[in-house]
This record gives sequence, C-alpha cells and structure tokens, in this order.
Amino acid sequence: MKAKAIGKVSKAVIPVAGLGTRFLPVTKAVAKEMIPIIDKPMIHYIVEEAVASGIEDIVLVTSRHKNEIQRYFDYNAELEDRLMNSGKADLAAGLKAIAESCNIICAYQKEPAGLGHAVGCARPVIGDHPFAVLLGDDLIDAPVPCTRQLMDVFEERGTSVVGVMEVPLADVSKYGIVGGTSLDERTLKIDRMVEKPKPDEAPSRFAIPGRYVVDPAIFRHISETRPGKGGEIQFTDALAALAQDEGLLSYRFDGNRYDTGDRLGYLEATLVFGLRRPELRDGLIRLMKSHLPS
Ligand code: G1P
Repeated sequence: MKAKAIGKVSKAVIPVAGLGTRFLPVTKAVAKEMIPIIDKPMIHYIVEEAVASGIEDIVLVTSRHKNEIQRYFDYNAELEDRLMNSGKADLAAGLKAIAESCNIICAYQKEPAGLGHAVGCARPVIGDHPFAVLLGDDLIDAPVPCTRQLMDVFEERGTSVVGVMEVPLADVSKYGIVGGTSLDERTLKIDRMVEKPKPDEAPSRFAIPGRYVVDPAIFRHISETRPGKGGEIQFTDALAALAQDEGLLSYRFDGNRYDTGDRLGYLEATLVFGLRRPELRDGLIRLMKSHLPS
C-alpha cells in the first residue's frame, strides 16, 4: 500500500439526486432529504456531521427536481426580517446560522446513473483534494462524528478509508461489503469489495453504511468503472479499483447508525432524537406508554 503525503481533509460530497422510492408517495413532491426528523430535515443532520468533523466546503450532487435542498441552506431574508420584527431574534439567528455553517456548492447529476457516477459529478469542484463522502440515508450518532473518525485515520495513515459496521448475514445484500486483512482491532486493509452480495458470496459481515474519506485518485477509477450491479456505475466498484492501486482501509467506527432511508429506521431515529430533546422527552414517554397495548 502506497503511503503518500496528504493534506488536511476540508471538503465533502453529499449525493442527493436519488429518487427516494422507499419513501413514496411523499417523495413524489418532496425531496427525501427534506423529510424531517422532528423539526430538521435529514440532510441537515448530515451537514451537521460534516461541519462538526471540520469540513468547510460541501458539494451537494443534486438534480433539477430538488432545488428545495439548496434553498434550505440559503438565506431567507424575508422570513428572517419578519422574525426580527416580531421579537423572535433567536429564531432568525438560528435560520441564518444554517446558511452560514459551511459553503454549500451544488453540482448536478443530469441522469440517474448510479452512486459512483454521482460522486464523479463533483470532480470539477473537488479537483485534486482528498474528500469525504456522506450518504444521506444513514444517520450516525457518535461521540466523535463518524466522518471525523475516518478523517483521523486518513490523515494518520495516508490511505483512503471507508467506515464499516458489522451486520447480520441476512443483511449483507443491502450494502457494499469489504474483505481484507486486519491491521488492528478496528482497521482492515481491504483486498475485496462486493456491492450487495448474496450471503454466501460476502467476503465478511462488515458493511459500509455510507461514510468514506478518499484520495482524489478515486475520480480516475470512477471514470474507468463500467456499469455494474443494477446497470449503474457503482461507487463500490470504483473503490475496489482504488483498493488495488492506491490502497484502501476500512475502519469499524464507534457510534450508532440509524437507517433513515427505511421506514422503521426512520421511526427509530425520530424516537431516539425526540427522547433527547428536553422539551419533548417527558411528553413522548407519556405518549408511548399510553399507546402500548396492555
Ligand atoms: C449505497 C452503496 C452501498 C452502501 C449503501 C449504504 O447503496 O452503493 O455500497 O453500503 O449505500 O447505505 P444504496 O443503499 O444507495 O442502494
């Protein structure tokens, strides 16, 4: 594995062009990333993780149907003025802070050609810098933000890294799965990656729930990747080529992950984040108790 001098990671790519079919019918008219967990859209939690990790520039790879995501991260001067004039300066400041937390840059994915293709659309903006990729369907709640954990591994070892978690064998076919040799109790040197394998074809039970920190060499591999599973340009296939040429690690991150792209996972996240809000906690517990079958 080639170690090379690498800079600090300050950029991230968040692909948000997907159709959100798992959340139809609401996604017929609302971007799935704008569905709220309590009162913040899911994408806001992902952007917060990136910012808390030290990311400064975020490239949203979006589609022409999803302009509301861009709008959410922009100023809304009219609303802010109204709030100020009605004595709600704290609410106005909160809205302004969303727009000022980082630089949001939009790149467009003009056709739905797969996750690898979506990440490739960020190339003109990212250029020759290492970057993080965060997928919007996974909320990861961790003492140190998951992306920061991966950035630390990348900056220490000089090698691209994907976050992994152990999943039951029955679930391997939902994820990109890694295989390789162990470097320490959390880190593997990857020698195999398979996108959504059948249980008997999985190299391990270590699954990627959508967090990556990669060398810009990934762009060359994406451009050389042919359509794979489902006829799409898979990010996992480009990462497998990166593993061969430049080297790739997996890191078993510390934290809890909620699959908010799944209805039950979404409800779980709503419940857990609701229980954390002091103003909602007692009422929520009372409601849950009153609705439990006796
Ligand atoms: C994508 C990736 C897959 C990864 C998953 C995590 O699949 O292709 O490797 O494990 O995200 O959520 P998708 O769920 O978009 O089909």
